[in-house]
Amino acid sequence: MTQELNDGLPAREAALALIDAALSRRGGLDEAASTNAFRYLEPRERAFARALAMAALRHLGPIDRALSAKLSKEPPPRVRNLLRLGATQAFFLEVPAFAAVATSVELAAANKTSRPFKGLVNAVLRGLLRDGPPVADPETLAPPWLYARWVGAFGAETAQAIAGQIVREPSTDLSLKPDADSAALAQALEGEILAGGTLRTARRGDVSAWPGFDDGTWWVQDAAAAIPARLLDVRAGETALDLCAAPGGKTLQLAAAGAATVAVDRSAARLKRVDENLARLGLTAEVVAADAGAWEDTRQFDAVLLDAPCSATGTFRRHPDVLWAARPGDVASLAAVQARLLDSAADRLKPGGRLVYCVCSLEPEEGEAQVEAFLARRPDMALSPIEAEEGGAPAASLTSRGTLRLLPHQREGGQDGFFAARFVRR
Ligand SMILES: C[S@@+](CC[C@H](N)C(=O)[O-])C[C@H]1O[C@@H](n2cnc3c(N)ncnc32)[C@H](O)[C@@H]1O
Repeated sequence: MTQELNDGLPAREAALALIDAALSRRGGLDEAASTNAFRYLEPRERAFARALAMAALRHLGPIDRALSAKLSKEPPPRVRNLLRLGATQAFFLEVPAFAAVATSVELAAANKTSRPFKGLVNAVLRGLLRDGPPVADPETLAPPWLYARWVGAFGAETAQAIAGQIVREPSTDLSLKPDADSAALAQALEGEILAGGTLRTARRGDVSAWPGFDDGTWWVQDAAAAIPARLLDVRAGETALDLCAAPGGKTLQLAAAGAATVAVDRSAARLKRVDENLARLGLTAEVVAADAGAWEDTRQFDAVLLDAPCSATGTFRRHPDVLWAARPGDVASLAAVQARLLDSAADRLKPGGRLVYCVCSLEPEEGEAQVEAFLARRPDMALSPIEAEEGGAPAASLTSRGTLRLLPHQREGGQDGFFAARFVRR
């Protein structure tokens, strides 16, 4: 083996750990990427390991199908992961085929569990390479149970369009401070300004060196994720409460609009990101570590935003791991948490105050059904229908109830899947 290939082995071993963690638990990929073993890799190796794991997860459905056709018996997880990564390198990362196979065989040999499967790794990968890239029919791109849910909720054609976004790498979306020179920034970042004000650029990677980062002119926020806070239309002099706020994308919007903002999240670690973001943007907010349902505070607010914890199935463009880590039982258990937090959010509103509820989920139980159940048990709350294209939402996302069902394919170049509804307290 050449020195060049040996150099790539730690990164590939790290990619194996990432994909193993991503498939075994929700949030596993980020957890694995924050371990010391991963952080002590060279930056170049770290970037390759992450890119490899992400590409494998983005193309996992078709790769697994092609692999299963070649395997007569399920091998140990490490071996299937080695095969997944080998195929990903050859088909999606432009790694020369010989290097993709040789490094996979080498990694198989380096571990007691996978050593007996060295020959199988070699033979299966060579077979796959002879067949060419796996066929990516839309219905093979997501786990079957999730795809079946999307067909049930939105119909077969829309489910196909949603799944088609899984293999597309997203652009980078930025939210700008209200006083930013958006035209000049769009030019500097080779981007365009979307309806609602988001700047979209094809640039990717480390944003901290981009124009406007150090001056605190913008922050990274998906075009769909920026819509819910705009629906609150907060003004200077108003009070706003952001529940489940970290890392703070929506807090920044509320504070930048001039509202006296309180940001609550139960994770003190994630709240550090809110503090950092506020400091970089030169904005202020009161930051509180507490459970949004149990927070003992008697203040009432003009506007409350609840970005509730959810299955996050709408975020698969940047986090393809959510598709494979989600379990069928998650949606029901998260829906129960969302209902509890919605009641608490409503109780913290002044009479006449506005509430926006949102989730980055594609599942109706976390969106439409949540709204109907809330209205049925809360006679003090009324739906405040969202207008067509309000906040920069694509017209197609407005439902007949005046809520937003933002689907990933509804915007040129894609967007995260989101649901949002607005209420007023009578
Ligand atoms: C979807 S993320 C929020 C993203 C954030 N609103 C933004 O725009 O940057 C969900 C957040 O909910 C927090 N969370 C989950 N359960 C919570 C609870 N019971 N009370 C407060 N925060 C909670 C998590 O720590 C996580 O930061």
